[in-house]
Amino acid sequence: MVVFPQLRLRRLRRTEMLRALVRESRVDIGDLVYPIFVAEGRGIKEEIPSMPGIFRFSPDQLPVEVEEIAELKIPAVLLFGIPEHKDEVGSPACDPEGVVQQAVRTIKHSAPKLLVITDVCLCEYTSHGHCGIVVGDQIDNDRTLPLLARMALSHAEAGADIVAPSDMMDGRVKAIREMLDTNGFQHIPILSYAAKYASAFYGPFREAAESAPQFGDRRSYQMDPPNVREVLREVEQDIAEGADIIMIKPALAYLDVIRQVRNTFNCPLAAYNVSGEYAMVKAAVRQGWLDERKTILEILTAIKRAGADIIITYHAKEVASWLQSV
Ligand code: PBG
Repeated sequence: MVVFPQLRLRRLRRTEMLRALVRESRVDIGDLVYPIFVAEGRGIKEEIPSMPGIFRFSPDQLPVEVEEIAELKIPAVLLFGIPEHKDEVGSPACDPEGVVQQAVRTIKHSAPKLLVITDVCLCEYTSHGHCGIVVGDQIDNDRTLPLLARMALSHAEAGADIVAPSDMMDGRVKAIREMLDTNGFQHIPILSYAAKYASAFYGPFREAAESAPQFGDRRSYQMDPPNVREVLREVEQDIAEGADIIMIKPALAYLDVIRQVRNTFNCPLAAYNVSGEYAMVKAAVRQGWLDERKTILEILTAIKRAGADIIITYHAKEVASWLQSV
């Protein structure tokens, strides 16, 4: 074995050209998905206080935004809807004239090549803020499935390219796959939030989407943070039910989970760099405590190194503009 002084690992770190030559992971603009909050109404473009640089847009404000995204060569957006009215069963979620359905049509018109992924979950549409139908004080799994399937179908009918269920009900991938297949949408992929943890890092998102649960919490359906073997079972199930892409969420505190799923399964893997992760970086940058560009690129590179193929991130626009200029 060659050892010091013949071996000097610093030789390959001496210049940027050498470092670039042996670099093992890179963030590519083509890996990024940019989340967008769409609020029902007209003329709305309001910044989310805990997420500087991220806005709620009404559908009529989307063309300018998505043309910019497409110009930056970001391949995909992920839509979250904020309806004007909510009810017990989240009925606005399946409305063909609903906010997400309108947004999908607008985006497909303004930036036809941009991939439109839609979040399939009831929490933004229910008055109680839970991701499923509430019976007593429980979230009823099986009664929720047909609603999720109808919601996914209405997104596909509006023109969505990929549907992304984030509700964490058992059996939803199967229910959605069957609904899409029996209605002529066999070609629409499902990106499943296979492993979504009951995380504190969703706080800013819930402010943005007005989707915080009105009673209790989501621990009866989202995953318990200490567990990772259970994730492998979740992923196995979702793949068996027909998921095309698997997602792990959040990303940063769960890099080990990304790595284990990458080592165990061969399907494309996405990681969601969630709202709280974004808010922490922006807050520290505002204080002058962290270098914005270096910190963000390091975080996203770490998510790639852990094994993610796709990164869903609120940083997508800024990162795309930095990567374009180098
Ligand atoms: C909806 C949903 C949530 C997020 C994505 N889809 C919130 C939640 O589960 O409470 C969080 C995304 C983020 O924090 O950026 N079920």
